[in-house]
Amino acid sequence: MAPLTARLAGRSFRYKSLGKRPLRGLAEPLEVLQVKGTRSSLNRFTALRARSTAPLVGRSEEVELLLSRWRRTADSEGQVVLLSGDAGIGKSRLVQSTRDRIGAEVAVLRYQCSPLHQDTALFPVIQQLMKSIGLVSEQSIADKLAKARQWLQMGGLDVAEYLPLVCHLLQIKSPEHRLPDAAPHQIRDRLVALLSTQFMNLTKFGPVLAIVEDVQWIDPTMENLLIDVLGSIEHAQAMILATNRDAFSPRWHVAGTPPTFVSSG
Ligand SMILES: Nc1ncnc2c1ncn2[C@@H]1O[C@H](COP(=O)(O)OP(=O)(O)OP(=O)(O)O)[C@@H](O)[C@H]1O
Ligand SMILES: [Mg+2]
Repeated sequence: MAPLTARLAGRSFRYKSLGKRPLRGLAEPLEVLQVKGTRSSLNRFTALRARSTAPLVGRSEEVELLLSRWRRTADSEGQVVLLSGDAGIGKSRLVQSTRDRIGAEVAVLRYQCSPLHQDTALFPVIQQLMKSIGLVSEQSIADKLAKARQWLQMGGLDVAEYLPLVCHLLQIKSPEHRLPDAAPHQIRDRLVALLSTQFMNLTKFGPVLAIVEDVQWIDPTMENLLIDVLGSIEHAQAMILATNRDAFSPRWHVAGTPPTFVSSG
């Protein structure tokens, strides 16, 4: 990569400089960067845009609206907010500013949908989980299993029953925890049920903010999960804060009060 390309890609990758090289067609030697790997722990906004130090302009009403919705979650009034608007209009920035205002002690789960992974079921959940439970590829299977067990116990779920499913989701290759043969759609349905239950269980310990970024790229199983959660969120200490370039997803249905729409146009 040339340095300019690397700048546009932001902090999405790790690089190593190979020094200046003469290139055909260019008068001056150019620095060449080798891509050493992705930095998947970052979400799109922090990878590409968070370097902007410009103060937030003209969004105080929207931030206040989001904060007032957030406060209701403490009284078990579940909230769903969909921020929609064109690319670059400031959806993620609004999310970030709101998140910064609600304090550090709050449980925040971030799900980043990706245009490159629309065919990978539950990709945003897999990424979020690997990060939150601290799974990295170099760990031994025993270490990974211990973390998966801990995660299930945290939500009060039956470890023996669900561990094979979690191993399948996170590609923990433990021979003793192989999932019994089943059709792919049955496995996906079971995963949706497990993840939805786990999410609702977590909200019993205190308010949870779930940020779902870039719903326009959501994979169908992740959307099923979201729809499942929306159906149970009415009396939960939880807020789903989603960003979307498209105006509305007709499959979304919220029990009780309808969702809040903030069109950031
Ligand atoms: N109200 C604002 N005040 C100052 N800067 C802003 C504001 N809104 C957005 N920006 C800046 O504009 C850029 C684009 O914003 P942002 O990434 O939030 O857009 P987006 O709607 O999430 O775009 P995308 O659909 O591509 O995700 C960022 O650098 C952000 O910091
Ligand atoms: Mg964004």
